[in-house]
Formats: sequence, structure tokens, C-alpha cells
Amino acid sequence: MKKILVTGGSGYKGSVLIPRLLKKGFQVISIDTNWFGDNLNDHSNLQKEIIDIRELNLKHFEGVDVVIHLANIANDPSVELDPLLSWEINVLASQKIAEFSKKSNVSSLIYASSGSVYGLSDKEKVTEDSELVPISEYNKTKMISERVFLSYKNDMNIYCVRPATVCGVSPRMRLDVAVNILTYSALKNKVIRVFGGKQVRPNIHIEDICAVYEFFIDNNIDSGCYNAGFENISILEIAKLVQKKLPYAEIIIESSNDPRSYRQCSDTILKLGFKPKKSVSNAIDEIISAYQTNKLYDGEKANSVRTLKALQVY
Ligand SMILES: NC(=O)c1ccc[n+]([C@@H]2O[C@H](COP(=O)([O-])OP(=O)(O)OC[C@H]3O[C@@H](n4cnc5c(N)ncnc54)[C@H](O)[C@@H]3O)[C@@H](O)[C@H]2O)c1
Repeated sequence: MKKILVTGGSGYKGSVLIPRLLKKGFQVISIDTNWFGDNLNDHSNLQKEIIDIRELNLKHFEGVDVVIHLANIANDPSVELDPLLSWEINVLASQKIAEFSKKSNVSSLIYASSGSVYGLSDKEKVTEDSELVPISEYNKTKMISERVFLSYKNDMNIYCVRPATVCGVSPRMRLDVAVNILTYSALKNKVIRVFGGKQVRPNIHIEDICAVYEFFIDNNIDSGCYNAGFENISILEIAKLVQKKLPYAEIIIESSNDPRSYRQCSDTILKLGFKPKKSVSNAIDEIISAYQTNKLYDGEKANSVRTLKALQVY
């Protein structure tokens, strides 16, 4: 039975990924500060460690086969709260994780990078070979961390996965990502507020990004960077899709100061055999259903920057 160490295990992605890994029979160690609470049910094959990744030591990596590194200050405004702290967590801790992984003979390290490393691009297809133009501090930490991990590719398999913006329901719900917030706003306020609207952004369903990480555990794939985003659509198109399902919601267009716009091409991973199973439309349906059955968490912790501000982690 493989032993998998997941950092950020109690986060938006982690709390969907870990139950899937446990279901597949893996032994899992979750590392998290639990800034957004403990979002993982107990399980006999799950060890939960409440610890900052900056405090990890070699012992945590004993017998670990695969590391999935998700723990980061995970969006632009949260990184801006304290850029120096963000560089320490998002970049300096990466070197520690890579070094401990090497010393412990970890076979594969999967790093949750981000498609946002491409920044602004009007290219029809942004592939893994496209130029990186990170325009925010967050994007820059992601780009540099990739370089740190890739410098270890002679020691273990290194997979820097560059996901699109993730959408869908999670026990640690994030209502600060595009599809989720637009759907929630339509449900709660009967209004879909769109900033700009023309920016094209890639999207990926939360179950699919978890499946992508599993794909790198299950298959023998070369080290490198891999795009993972399967639906390039504009914010306005997302709003219209939400409105189609919730016709009472009004779309209001306002000006935007976030020009990021790019189309991600994920042919590399598709050619390797990965098949996405879900869509933005599925995510919207699932959020609506969770909301209508009172299963959608929409408290303070669903907003990353507000939570980190309140915790004064910076
Ligand atoms: N959600 C997206 O749309 C998206 C898209 C692309 C990339 N990513 C990347 O995927 C990863 C996971 O994102 P998410 O959406 O699950 O974010 P999240 O904020 O929900 O999860 C991050 C988790 O890491 C924990 N954490 C943060 N700093 C820590 C530290 N110093 N020590 C220990 N734990 C710490 C937090 O408590 C949280 O539970 C991040 O690296 C993010 O940059 C996310």
C-alpha cells in the first residue's frame, strides 16, 4: 500500500482529494495548519498533522512514496497581505519539501502549480512551452517554486501541474473562485456581478483536478510541467450559464482591474490518456443542489483572504 503525504490536506482541493485516495486504499498523511478548519473525517489509514510546512522535518517523510504538495497561500489577494510570508511559505518551504523528499527516497512529487503562471496571453493555445508572464506576486511564487522542484528531477519524478481555476463543491468550500462565486451570488442575492467579463479563463472541475493528481500516481510519466484545464470560457459565458439554470438572477457588468486572460491547452495530458469526466455545468448544478439542501458551507472561512486577515497569520 503506497503512503502518500499531502500538504494542504484540509484545504479546498485536499479535502476532496484525500477521501478519494483513502478510497483507493492508500495510506495518507495530511499536513495542514487548519486555517480553514479540519475538513477531513477520521479514517484508520489517515494521519492528520496540524503543522506549518515550514516546520516539517525528515521524520514526516519516513516511508513516504509520493508527496502531493498543495499547501500555499493560494490566491492573489491573500499573497498580497504579506508578500514576504507568502514567499517563505510558497517558495522557501518548497526547497525543504524537495530536500526531505530526496533524502527519504520519495519516488514522485506532485506540485500544485497554477495555470496563472502564463499571465496575460491572447494566444489561441497556451501550451506548456508557452512563455511564462506571471503578473502577480502569487503567480511569481508559483513559477519560482516550479524551478525549485524541477531542479530535483534527477532524484525523483517531478510533476508540476498547472491547473485552471477549480470549480465545484468541497468540504472546505471556496467562494472566492469564479464559477463558485458567480453561482453562489445568483442563489443568495439573485444577482450575478461580472467584473469585465470578456477575460477568457480556463476551468477545471474539482473532481477532475483530483483525478489528474491520481493520474500521476498511477502512471509512469516523465517529469515536467503539465497543463490541466479543459474548458476555456469567458466570465460572461459562465454568468450566462448560471443564469440559464437560475433565470431569476440578473447579470450586472462592472469594470475590472484584473486583465488576466488566457486559453489553456491541455493536449499533452489528454494524449497521455487522461479523460476529464466533469464540466463547469456539472459544478454549477452541484453548487445549486448543495445550497438548496443546506449542505453548502458559506461561512467566513469560504473566503480565503478574509479568513487569513481574521487569523492575522501575516
Ligand atoms: N483552487 C484553485 O482554483 C487553484 C488553481 C490553481 C492552483 N491552485 C493551487 O492548489 C493548491 C491548493 O489550493 P486550494 O484551492 O485547495 O487552496 P486552500 O487555501 O483551500 O488550501 C490550502 C491549504 O493549505 C493550508 N496551508 C497554507 N499554508 C500552510 C502552511 N504554511 N503550512 C501548512 N498548511 C498550510 C491551508 O490551511 C489550506 O488548508 C494551492 O497551492 C493553490 O495555489 C489552486
